[in-house]
Amino acid sequence: MGNAERGSAGTRSAGTAPPLLEVEGLSIRLPADRAARPILDGVSLNVAAGETVGLVGESGSGKSVACRSVLGLLPDGARVEGQVRVRGRDVLTLDRPGLRELRSRQVAMVFQDPRAAVNPLRRIGDFLTEGLRAAGTPAERATARALELLDAVGIPDPRGALRRHPHEFSGGMLQRVVIAAALAGEPELLIADEPTTALDVTTQAEVIAVLTRLQAERGTGLLFVTHDLELAAAVCDRIHVMYAGRIVETRATGDLFAHPRHPYTAGLLACTPRIDPDAPAPRPVPGRPLSLAEAPPGCAFAPRCAFAEPRCSAEPPALRPSGDGLAACLRADEGILP
Ligand SMILES: Nc1ncnc2c1ncn2[C@@H]1O[C@H](COP(=O)(O)OP(=O)(O)OP(=O)(O)O)[C@@H](O)[C@H]1O
Ligand SMILES: [Mg+2]
Repeated sequence: MGNAERGSAGTRSAGTAPPLLEVEGLSIRLPADRAARPILDGVSLNVAAGETVGLVGESGSGKSVACRSVLGLLPDGARVEGQVRVRGRDVLTLDRPGLRELRSRQVAMVFQDPRAAVNPLRRIGDFLTEGLRAAGTPAERATARALELLDAVGIPDPRGALRRHPHEFSGGMLQRVVIAAALAGEPELLIADEPTTALDVTTQAEVIAVLTRLQAERGTGLLFVTHDLELAAAVCDRIHVMYAGRIVETRATGDLFAHPRHPYTAGLLACTPRIDPDAPAPRPVPGRPLSLAEAPPGCAFAPRCAFAEPRCSAEPPALRPSGDGLAACLRADEGILP
């Protein structure tokens, strides 16, 4: 779908504007009595206008914590190093009014479970217009905008929908409403944290189509979190693979699928089921992800890695250039993967 060139044409991102999202060396640590290793460890990633960047990895790898940090939301008691910049402004040092402005105008997030994102007792119309009205939009204009957004995300009878409550919508329709709400402030950056995990496959495809179409029309940057690699391949321009709080591989989507360099990425690809009858049966990555209580001295993936050597357990490998991307594996350039 979108790429940086197409997205920046005709949008707010003038050639001289600072980059949309830059996360640089972000580390988030809980106090030592609550965790042995950082939740995030030196995470760096960028999203340009119109670009879709994927974040994939097993449960607990830190994807949601990374997303929430872009909104300035950090775990209680966490120590933070590094920077998160949106259009050049450091999110982690913003005061309350600055954060409010960031969240109402620049960055919006679509969460995994639409029912958790809405108040069940309030009408959809109030949910959609509250942000606009709080930002000073007159009630009539806010309603007109809500109707436009509901139409854009494919809700039939938008006027009737405004009067309904969340329980009167199916999961897929409610997720469209949540996406409409996220788009209300015309954010430059949309963070979608597993936006379709709770949906059936056909609804998932429709919701993704809505997201990608709106993105192409508006040049929105999209940070897309999923543990579904097939979905990431269909949606993302570039993918970051996370493992135990670190980015272990970064590559353009086609290259990542054709030539993964990190054994963990290859493992994730091998356990993705394929429809093709000649495709090999999916093979799960052996072992289990690292908990926060475990802090091995070397590569966090080494205990599960078929290619690990003694040196892999000595110190964590740096993320460095490998092919046209980056990989954090001492053996990335040895051609060990088939
Ligand atoms: N507010 C918090 N306080 C303490 N620990 C947290 C907090 N939020 C997340 N964690 C821990 O940080 C780690 C990463 O969590 P995160 O939710 O980012 O994982 P994830 O990659 O999004 O996983 P999933 O695919 O299951 O959504 C987990 O071990 C989690 O328990
Ligand atoms: Mg998550």
